[in-house]
Order: sequence, then C-alpha cells, then structure tokens
Amino acid sequence: MADKQATGNSANAKPWGGRFQEATEKLVEKFSASEHFDRRLWDHDIQASKAHAAMLARQGIISSEDARAISNGLDEIRGEIEAGKFQWRPELEDVHMNIERALSEKIGDAGKRLHTARSRNDQVATDARLYVRERIDCLNAKLHALQEAFLHQARSHANLIIPGFTHLQHAQPVLWAHHWLAYFQMFKRDRERLADCRKRVNICPLGSAALAGTGFLIDRNWVAEALGFDGISENSLDAVGDRDFIIEFVSSLSLVMMHLSRLSEELVLWSSSEFGFVELPDGYCTGSSIMPQKKNPDVPELVRGKTGRVYGHLMSLLTLMKGLPLAYNRDLQEDKEALFDAVDTAEMSVEVMAGLVARISPHPERLGQVVNTGFLTATDLADYLVEKGLPFREAHEVVGRAVAQCLDRGVELTDLSVEELCSLHPLIAEDVMKVITPEGSVEARKCPGGTGSQAVSEAVSQAEAWLEQNNPRSANAAN
Ligand code: ARG
Repeated sequence: MADKQATGNSANAKPWGGRFQEATEKLVEKFSASEHFDRRLWDHDIQASKAHAAMLARQGIISSEDARAISNGLDEIRGEIEAGKFQWRPELEDVHMNIERALSEKIGDAGKRLHTARSRNDQVATDARLYVRERIDCLNAKLHALQEAFLHQARSHANLIIPGFTHLQHAQPVLWAHHWLAYFQMFKRDRERLADCRKRVNICPLGSAALAGTGFLIDRNWVAEALGFDGISENSLDAVGDRDFIIEFVSSLSLVMMHLSRLSEELVLWSSSEFGFVELPDGYCTGSSIMPQKKNPDVPELVRGKTGRVYGHLMSLLTLMKGLPLAYNRDLQEDKEALFDAVDTAEMSVEVMAGLVARISPHPERLGQVVNTGFLTATDLADYLVEKGLPFREAHEVVGRAVAQCLDRGVELTDLSVEELCSLHPLIAEDVMKVITPEGSVEARKCPGGTGSQAVSEAVSQAEAWLEQNNPRSANAAN
C-alpha cells in the first residue's frame, strides 16, 4: 500500500482519508487550501458548531456529556485563536477542518461526534451567512456616521449658495445644504438596500447537510433561533449550492462605492484651484515628494480607485456562479476572498469618507463669485416672463437672445441695468431685479424636494428624524 498519509490516525491524516490509497500531492494541498483566508470565519464556525452540538444533545443524538465537552473544547479553541496561539494547519484545508481536528485532539471521541448530521457544505453556508449578517450590521453603523457628516454639512453654512451643475456646466444656484442632502439620500437608499438584503441573508442552511438533508431527527428551527436567524432554508440543494446572498451583498457594496466615488470625483474637482470651492482637511491629504506647494486629494482619489476593485469582485462572483450545476461545487470556495476584500474595502472607504466629509470647509468668497457668473439665473428670468403671461417657449427664446447679447458684450445678466433689462421685453419691469439674483432664484424654488430655504430646512428635519429612527445604536432602530 502506498503512503497512508491520507488516512489512518496520523496527525496529518485527512478527515476524509478513508477511501484513499495515496497521499494528496503537496502542490494540490497548497492549491486547494483556504485556511489562510477562511480562518476569518473561525468565530462564526465556533458559534454554529456550538448551536449544532447543543441541538444534537437536545434531540438525544449525542449525549449531553459529549455536548458539554464539545462546547468547552470549542471555548478553549476560541481562547487559543484569540490569543494567537492556535496552530493553523494548511494540510487540513479550511477553517472548518482545522477547528474540528483541534477539537478531536482535545476531547477525543466527543469531538468526532460533532460532525453528525452535518456537512461542510451546510457548515460553510451557515458561517458565511453569519459573517455577512455581521458585516451588514457593522457597515450600517458606519453609513450612519457618514450620513451624520452630510447632515452636519447641511446644517452649517445654512444660507450658502453654490452653483449647481448639469453636464458639469453652470446650471442653477442651489443651497450648499441641498447639495449635501442629495448625498444623504443616496446613502439612505444604500442602507435600505442592505437592510433588505439582510432579510435574505439571515436564513439558516444548517441541516441541509451535504445536499439532501439528513436522516437524523434534528431540530433545525431550534438551531436557527439559537443563532439569531429569522428562519430556515426551504430546500437543501439550494441552501448549500447558491451564493446569491453574497452577490446581493457585494452588489449593495458596489452601489455604496459608486456613490462614494461620485462624491470623491466631485471633491477632487472642487478642491482644485480651478474650482476652489472647498478646502479638504490637511489630515486627509498628502503632499508631493518633489513639488513643495502640493496638497493632493489622495483619499477621494483612492476611494474612486477602490470602487473598481469592488465592482471587480462583484463580477468575479457573478461569473463564479453562472455555470454551476446543483448543488455544492468546490468552485464556491472562491467566493470568500472576493467577499472579504469587498467588505474590507467598502467598510474602510465609508469610514474614511465620513471623517473627511465632516471636516470639509467651503470657500464662501470664491463660491459667491462663481455663483454670480455663468447665467445661473437665466431660467428665473424666463420663469418671470411666464408669470407675466408669456408662454414658456417664447420666454426661453427671449432670455436666450439676452444671454447671447451679454456674451457678446462680456457681461452677466446681473450686470445689466434696470433699463437694459426692461428693454429686453415689454413685460419686464423693475421687480425683475430681485428675481435674477442667486438668492431670489433659490428662494423661488419652494416646492418640496427643491432648493428653496424652507424646503431645505424641512428636508433637514426629515433627515434628522430618519437618522433618529434608524440609529443602529438605539433600541428602536428600524433596521
Ligand atoms: N472550504 C470549502 C468552501 O469554502 C468548504 C466546503 C467544502 N466541502 C467539500 N465538500 N469539499 O467551500
């Protein structure tokens, strides 16, 4: 008989070695091991194993002494891992077999009974769901802090007016607060999406075993409840074979990153000397090793760059799943690095941007200058004519011609005298003067959701109320 490393009782033997004659190739061991990254799931794995063992004892499948020994053994292992003393063994493939083997070495036969009525296939699916649930909750808290930073910006500089853009061309004046509240809304939807995703994540696959369920009389609902799941999966093949919950989560992360990236792009522009709209905090910028004058917006640039990385993981995961027949396939092991890196990237990006946003300061003089150039109030002049009875299309034409004249003369609408303005059209009178100022323009936009100061102050109150209701730190949080 060839090398019996694959089987028997040697310390390196595989838990599945029974039917093998030859040892696993060293290169294959290295190629297939996931322990160096999936060890991140150790805590979730221990939680799930403890619940499973307790249930096995409740059902009389193992003795309560064995269950107690398993629970104590797992606690010891937890302590070792936390203290950095646990000996991880790549030849044992993954986190699950590392922990199970260490347990058996500690407590003997009781440890070998833990895997009754369970497979690594439902085990890994359970661990991954516990992990994703935990990360959703953590990210939710970080997004909350980011929204608080937007709200902080909206509350400070209450009357500051900035140019609003379409096509990155001057469009209409808007309140500084209105601008930040736009981001508040984006991340509100992101949080709602994550809360919704959490519902589908928080379902317990344990009991699906390898693919077909188990013949042991287990109590799946008890395990699910013990682990804080909202319910149990309804089809064993599906429960061990799909990772759509990870894809859905990473797709929500991609949207978070997309929103952060848009914000980043804007901050890079706004902090440039060409725009000069805002000052970024020094602590979030870096200098140049050669150009002494430089203050570079590296944080937003990196967030913008890292967005591609998260999208890449989403694409890997979608591609990973697309050709897999039911049920479990080892390909699924490839879900983890994509998931972990997407989570790490998104969490850190949100956290760093929350700190940055809270400390952005506007340059009001420069903004005041810019807001008075570029015909930002041309629409207001047209609306004025409409209110005096002219059809909008005609009003548009009149103002368009006026803008063309101003462009020829190198002046702004607001540079024209009352007489000049009145000469543009018989319906224009002296009261036009307050209409074409940035303040007049903003104030006119009273409709809900618009940039008028009343509408914006209502939006601030609504945002405050939403944050209050969805504060992850308070007991009455909606999600
Ligand atoms: N490490 C594996 C994974 O991440 C665990 C499940 C392995 N199951 C199996 N039958 N090989 O997917």
